[in-house]
Amino acid sequence: MKKIIIAIDGFSSTGKSTVAKQLAKELNYIYVDTGAMYRAVTYFALENDLIGEDFFHIEKLIERLDDIKITFKYNKDLGFAEVYLNGRNIEKDIRTLKVSRYVSPIATISEVRQKLVEQQQLMGKDKGIVMDGRDIGTVVFPDAELKIFMTASAETRAKRRYKELLERGHNLSYEEVLENVTTRDRIDSSREDSPLRKADNAIEIDNSDLTIEEQVDSLVKLAKTIV
Ligand code: DC
Repeated sequence: MKKIIIAIDGFSSTGKSTVAKQLAKELNYIYVDTGAMYRAVTYFALENDLIGEDFFHIEKLIERLDDIKITFKYNKDLGFAEVYLNGRNIEKDIRTLKVSRYVSPIATISEVRQKLVEQQQLMGKDKGIVMDGRDIGTVVFPDAELKIFMTASAETRAKRRYKELLERGHNLSYEEVLENVTTRDRIDSSREDSPLRKADNAIEIDNSDLTIEEQVDSLVKLAKTIV
C-alpha cells in the first residue's frame, strides 16, 4: 500500500504525541517526536551551562551544535522509540518541567532549527511516517499528504499535563504547569523562525472533549482515504 507522510502540529500538551504514537502503530508507520529533539538540545544546553535562570549563551550553543548527536532507538517493551543524546538514553530526563521551561527559547534559534529540520526531513524520505511538532506541516513537510492541527483550551491542556507529571512523581502546582503551557504557547507562536501556525490545508481538531481512541480512530480512517 502507498505510504504517506502524516504531519501533526499543535499547541503544547494537546496530546499530539499520544495520538501520533498510536496512529503510527495502527498504520505500521514510524513515529517521530520532534519535540523530543528540541528537548534534547535543551538538555545539552542545561548540562553544559549554556542556559540558566539569568543567562543564555546563544553563540556558544551554536558553536557546539556539532557536538550534539540525537538518535532514536525503538524500545520493544514501551512500544515507541526513545531519544538518545550522544548515545545516552535521556527519554525520561527531558520530560521535566525544568526542560519544558527552557525549551521554547532554545527552539527560537534558527541554527538549532536548521539542524533538526534537516534530520527530520531525512527521517521522512521514505514516507510511512507520523511526525509531531510545531512546524511539521508548514516547514518540515509542506507537501505532507495529511496535516492535522490539534487544539484544546489552555486549562484542559494544563490539567492533563499536571496529572501526567504528578503520576510520574514530580512535585509541582497546577498553576506552575498552566503558566508553562501559556508561556510556551506565546513563545512558540510568536517566534520569528517557523512560528507555530496551522498550515492552510491542515485539518483542525479541538480534542477538549474527545478520547484518545476517538481521535486515533478518525485519523486512521482519514489516512486510509488518502492512500
Ligand atoms: O512537543 P513538546 O512539548 O515536547 O515540544 C517542546 C518544545 O519544542 C515546544 O514548546 C516548542 C519546541 N518545538 C518546536 O519548536 N518545533 C517542533 N517541531 C517541535 C517542538
